Amino acid sequence: MATEPQILLLNGPNLNMLGQREPAIYGTDTLAEIEQRCHAHADALGLALNFKQSNHEGELVTWIQDANGVCDGLIINAGAYTHTSIALLDALTLLDCPIIELHLSNVFAREKFRHHSYISPVATGVICGLGGHGYMLAMDAVKRLLDD
Ligand code: DQA
Repeated sequence: MATEPQILLLNGPNLNMLGQREPAIYGTDTLAEIEQRCHAHADALGLALNFKQSNHEGELVTWIQDANGVCDGLIINAGAYTHTSIALLDALTLLDCPIIELHLSNVFAREKFRHHSYISPVATGVICGLGGHGYMLAMDAVKRLLDD
């Protein structure tokens, strides 16, 4: 039997505060609730999901490096590092699997400094503005890309 595709879903800084953090922008679901829904959705899609969060840029870089040659798809909500981190861009450039950049909020409808993403140039696609549901859509997208 073929093994399930391995999907790494990374969450960056402050996403551990979902539920308490600016609910008008990010919604009231906690990251643990979103994670639970992601696991149920991954099971339904036949994907093996590894869901992680870190407030540390270097830790995210290491996780991306470790995914090289291991993961079949990577989904990343890099939080504020999206707008600042050349190190994340360089790490993501190592990967040759589909990469989905994800944001809960519509970053283009917010402050100007959120309009630029260092990681978009290496993303296969970007999902933003759809709240927690965006996480499910990102997994749908990875599944579709791997099936095609
Ligand atoms: C975010 C958008 C970023 O601009 C912000 O810094 C975050 C969350 C989002 O999911 O909407 O931390 O990535």
